[in-house]
Amino acid sequence: APSLGRRLAAVVFVDGARVIETTERNLDAVSESRFVRAARGQGQGRPPVWIMRQAGRYLPQYRKLRESHTFVEMCTEPDLAVEVSLQPWREFGMDAVIVFYDILFVPEAMGAPLEFTERGPVFHRPVASRADVDGLRRPEKGSASGPIVESLRRLRASLPREVAVLGFAGAPFTLAAYLVEGDFRRSGDRIRRLIHAEPEMIDALLDRITEATIEYVNEQVDAGADAVQLFDTWAGLLGLDHYERFAARYQKPIFEALRERDVPAILYVNGASHLLERLPACGATVFSLDWRTPLVAARRAFGSRIALQGNLDPTVLFAPPDEVARRTKDMLESMRNDPSYIVNLGHGILPETPVASVRAFIDTVREADA
Ligand code: CP3
Repeated sequence: APSLGRRLAAVVFVDGARVIETTERNLDAVSESRFVRAARGQGQGRPPVWIMRQAGRYLPQYRKLRESHTFVEMCTEPDLAVEVSLQPWREFGMDAVIVFYDILFVPEAMGAPLEFTERGPVFHRPVASRADVDGLRRPEKGSASGPIVESLRRLRASLPREVAVLGFAGAPFTLAAYLVEGDFRRSGDRIRRLIHAEPEMIDALLDRITEATIEYVNEQVDAGADAVQLFDTWAGLLGLDHYERFAARYQKPIFEALRERDVPAILYVNGASHLLERLPACGATVFSLDWRTPLVAARRAFGSRIALQGNLDPTVLFAPPDEVARRTKDMLESMRNDPSYIVNLGHGILPETPVASVRAFIDTVREADA
């Protein structure tokens, strides 16, 4: 295909040593993974489907394993992480498997003490001053990435090529928000105040996180990730100007790093309706839309410049299975024949979601014709 040729030519000039690896990756992806084909705008037949947070507490298998292990053990022991990553795939047969881990292990490896409590994650010493920022270190090689890299390797080795293996990271703004807020059941006021009170401090913090994240995603690609999703969950808290200045600006070098490796990047932002106009230029290959904006409206705004992922409201899965199937069909119909579409929810699946409705959602997509 001509586009493949162009990509290869670009890579040859950048880095001769990576050519062979990239060639193989491309040929594999283009010929064998429904997910990567759609991400690259080459989808055929039904769209691929997976679910954000597809491994988790709504699954009895997950809860069973979780009874005898902490969440951190499940993330950091590759035997457990691989098992949990595979549970939803065995149960429902999604087109992509996301590795089991958490976005907050990167800031932890930078030196911020983290605890996952019953009520969610907490940073015990929130970042409050320039001295706190300067106290954060560049993660030692493998300290954040060791477990996720090993889990990705094993997943890639054990799954058929037609199933994509996804890595992920938190975007700099979202990780900075967690570090500053400490406990994110707070409102997000603190980071927005600091942007005005001490913008240089926030830039310094974002710089450090960005540097660590570029290394982190590159290691995931080395381990075999077919695509990488960047979660900028909290960036929707920002107005357009600050989104540009404090979120998009720091996503960009991460997307550039992934582009250089020829690995599709997915961006998720929760509550992004007010940002639509600037998202086509975000640098990601795929934009993962929350449930508030209809996919067709986003497609109209974006043109064909970017693939779309989403966006069934996760609470729809609390409807009876036939209603879930009906709404899923409506969504599929609205994106019919779009070669750059990946089916997902508009945010992570909720812990109490009925399994029968998840099955109705996935089966409806898998049984759809072109
Ligand atoms: O998608 C997947 O299946 C992969 C695993 C994954 C988890 N967290 C597992 C998890 C991914 C991709 C994440 C990303 C993540 N982590 C995000 C961005 C995604 C989003 O929803 O926008 C955020 C904000 C976090 C931070 C985090 N980790 C929070 C807020 C919580 C508590 C919320 C909750 O559901 O309890 C976690 C814990 C967490 N991460 C759980 C899981 C399955 C629940 C842990 C448990 O079993 O008790």
